[in-house]
Amino acid sequence: MTPTMRARIYRPTGRNLARLARVLAGGGLVAVPAETVYGLAADALDARACRAIFKAKGRPANDPLIVHVASVQQAGEVAVLSDAARAVAKKFWPGPLTLVLPRRPCVPRVVTSGLDSVAVRMPAHPLFLELIRLSGCPLAAPSANPFGYISPTTAEHVRDGLGSRIGHILDGGAAAIGVESTILDLRDPQQPAILRPGAISAEALAKILGVPVAPYVPTASGKKSARVADASTSNSASPALAPGLLEQHYSPRTPLNLVDAFDAGTRELARDHADEAFLFLKKPTGKTRPNEFWLSTRGHLAEVAHGLFARLRQLDDGNWRKIHVARAPGRTALAVAVNDRLTRAAARRP
Ligand code: TXA
Ligand code: MG
Repeated sequence: MTPTMRARIYRPTGRNLARLARVLAGGGLVAVPAETVYGLAADALDARACRAIFKAKGRPANDPLIVHVASVQQAGEVAVLSDAARAVAKKFWPGPLTLVLPRRPCVPRVVTSGLDSVAVRMPAHPLFLELIRLSGCPLAAPSANPFGYISPTTAEHVRDGLGSRIGHILDGGAAAIGVESTILDLRDPQQPAILRPGAISAEALAKILGVPVAPYVPTASGKKSARVADASTSNSASPALAPGLLEQHYSPRTPLNLVDAFDAGTRELARDHADEAFLFLKKPTGKTRPNEFWLSTRGHLAEVAHGLFARLRQLDDGNWRKIHVARAPGRTALAVAVNDRLTRAAARRP
């Protein structure tokens, strides 16, 4: 791969899909659309191809990849499926749910960062599913962004971040959900736990599993959770047990000031600080200023999540001195997920 390589964005024609499937089957990398965020895919059973994913992203080797499948049967070829896993897969697949399960030996160690478990998911985007079927391989795919930066929700975002490092991007439109999948640790079906919040809630999972699901616990400061701290103190080379639990992640270069809520004074602040951007969850009333932005017209969380990463990227490119944003209200799955991403985005670089 040469540094001058410029990624081509492919329209989703039958011919292009067949071509990209051949690239994947031949050990190459293709950025693919998902309903959550775009992924950078390779044959999950090809260690060399998967190492190229880490290289293109600048991703540390101790951050394992999700393996994407097109059927429950294919999931069973890479992971050991318990009855509990089958039950939640039946309910939520294809969809934004990743299951961490005992791995089968065919999965290369580079994919799982040496863990005994593997993360598996059946994505809901029809083009992603089609590529898995056409290529004939399960596809390992992390989000298609340089490590640590905001996840991509369009083909153009992928090209902006990785365009000089990869050759192929499949355009499947803007990602419908806009935040990454919920990750459920289901290694022990009696003690399921959320490792990363996404569109599917702990409550919805508990209902299917019939046991309580340990919810994702955000740490007030955005510091590493106890789980990761345990792993990293016992052995500095050990993989992060939970995803994106790195304190600082999803980060714009512009400082992000995350507050609990905007209030009556916020718009005066916006008036007095024209070089700082103010990002509202809901369109402010009346005439807005050029430094006032919003994530939804009426405050619907699905719309907020859908547009969050694109808006953060846009503001990050806008030469603002600072970006102010407020937490999403409530405890719904999407509110928890949005606030998790905002907390990480606001955390300072070490
Ligand atoms: O929605 C998504 O999940 C997207 C799309 C492309 O499917 N993918 C995604 O991948 O967000 P990525 O690599 O950005 O995040 C996956 C996270 C990693 O941070 C990793 O720590 C965690 O999944 N993970 C992978 N395997 C794991 C395992 N065996 N145990 C615990 N966590 C694991
Ligand atoms: Mg990611």
